[in-house]
Amino acid sequence: MNIIVTDHPDQAFQRTAGIIADEIRSSSTPVLGLATGRTMESIYRLLVQQYEAGMLDFSGATSFNLDEYVGLSAADPNSYSHYMREHLFAHVNMPDGKAHVPDGVAADLDAECARYEAIIRASGGIGLQLLGIGETGHIGFNEPPSAFDSRTRVVHLDEVTRRQNSGMFGNDPERVPERALTMGVGTILEARHLLLVAVGDGKAAIINDALNGPISEDVSATAIRFHDNVTVILDRAAASIWA
Ligand code: F6R
Repeated sequence: MNIIVTDHPDQAFQRTAGIIADEIRSSSTPVLGLATGRTMESIYRLLVQQYEAGMLDFSGATSFNLDEYVGLSAADPNSYSHYMREHLFAHVNMPDGKAHVPDGVAADLDAECARYEAIIRASGGIGLQLLGIGETGHIGFNEPPSAFDSRTRVVHLDEVTRRQNSGMFGNDPERVPERALTMGVGTILEARHLLLVAVGDGKAAIINDALNGPISEDVSATAIRFHDNVTVILDRAAASIWA
């Protein structure tokens, strides 16, 4: 595992965006696994800047987002589909139909999960998977406990996560959907390169659990220790307990 600790969060974002940009340039048909959340906003801003400067071309790219809230349509401003358009897809030349987010309003959610797994497989699999980490130790929305061989499925969100994500919902955890669709831990582990990024002292304890604690399905992020190609990018604050 390659662990990079930067002095400042902006440097962590720069390093992360640099690795994603290299992945996009490394192939005419890169397949990216993408995440949402506060951490990713600055990273997408940097990628958009590189695109606008003519340094990046998304025309051959395919992407798969990790997760989506159940019950929120792509038009809902709190959906992850909307987040991705707002922060990345609307600003770069990602081809229509190649930027995939699970459909949180599919009539048959289990069928949607199976479809998502199938289109990831059909794409040849994810090359680089971007990951954040939640307070519960989730990657994607794999709340504790999540089997390490779990696949894309419907999950119930932990109360801790609903509180963590309530900022988009008027700071009211009760308004955060109770369920989500998420790639499974097993799905995530099949990506060829995992890139986990965390900044701020609020992430220090869970980063220490993820990197040093017992490997356990109660902390999904510990599963990345089974993978042989992992990059973790932290700022000093997020690394403060681990280091
Ligand atoms: C979101 C996702 C989550 C977030 C995590 C951290 O697509 O997969 O695992 O990465 O909850 O979120 P922030 O960055 O808001 O702290």
